[in-house]
Amino acid sequence: METIEKLFSSFKIREGFELCNRIVFAPVYLNLKADSNVFRSFYVERARGGTGLIIAPVPTPGGLTDLYTSSFRVAAQRLIAECREYGTWIIPQVFSGVGDWVNTMSKEEIAKLPASFAQCAEKLKQIGFPGMEIHGAHHSLFMHLLSPPINHRADCYNGTLNARARIQSETVKAIKSRVGSDFSLFYRMSAADLLPGGFMIEEAKVVGVMLQTAGLDCLDISVGGTGLNQGTECPDHTHAEACFSPYFGAVKKALDIPLIGVGRITSGESAESILCRNKADLVALGRQLVADPYWPLKVKEQRECGIVPMADWYKCVPRKNPVYN
Ligand SMILES: Cc1cc2nc3c(=O)[nH]c(=O)nc-3n(C[C@H](O)[C@H](O)[C@H](O)COP(=O)(O)O)c2cc1C
Repeated sequence: METIEKLFSSFKIREGFELCNRIVFAPVYLNLKADSNVFRSFYVERARGGTGLIIAPVPTPGGLTDLYTSSFRVAAQRLIAECREYGTWIIPQVFSGVGDWVNTMSKEEIAKLPASFAQCAEKLKQIGFPGMEIHGAHHSLFMHLLSPPINHRADCYNGTLNARARIQSETVKAIKSRVGSDFSLFYRMSAADLLPGGFMIEEAKVVGVMLQTAGLDCLDISVGGTGLNQGTECPDHTHAEACFSPYFGAVKKALDIPLIGVGRITSGESAESILCRNKADLVALGRQLVADPYWPLKVKEQRECGIVPMADWYKCVPRKNPVYN
């Protein structure tokens, strides 16, 4: 095996927010309350296992204001501190809204989103997070707006690519002007919706540049998963190792800001090769880090034969929702 050096090299998002390596725990929704002990222990174990950055989806069943409670603040500050003991940073992933609403939300409701997100970002910054990620991929509202087969609106949020990406850019601008440069904004987008006549890589490059111009700090690229093709964002064993690299590699070429790539990355060798071939700046692993939180340490210490293999699809976390059912 070639030497794995780049994967374990540090990466600076900005002054004061430097990752100890290039390994990201991709957002994996856990069906757990964000202020619960089990939520915290799950992530702290990934920090102990050597992950550089954790992106943790935070449930907001009652809306973004769920993140303004004192119980969330106290639990989040403890989580951040415990992850930092292992040199790991953690940021929350905030859902941009349910994609099913795309054609039913009023223009006024959509127009309010940038201000709501900016207020939410300010609260998260006050808590002590170094940044946040907007979930604008898969079955989210922001992704459904981008997708021509799904977005049937007849207003300023449809028609041209600029119009389909309008609210996403305005949201990035609003957040960055509210929180400034010492709070880093990540954005997750599917580089293609994998639907006939749908959103494709060439458009993803343009949207990536629009978000970059709006002030985005890091783009996190996924693929598919719009709900009309549920599951495509989690490629199963019939897919090749790192099968989304043609997508994120293409988008990376169009951008100057850092980019995260994901999709069935399970070996240190393929992660290293993605970085060395400049297809991404950071590599994200979802199901593999669910299966084995110690993947980073095992790869670093060349103990790869001891890695617990990942499970396909959503089998990796309990299906039944223990909190909100
Ligand atoms: C159980 C489960 C929950 C997920 N939840 C989210 C989520 O909340 N937000 C998100 O952007 N992606 C989510 N994903 C997608 C993952 O972040 C990742 O993109 C996908 O699993 C492919 O990466 P992998 O092959 O390394 O697992 C989820 C995936 C799984 C398996």
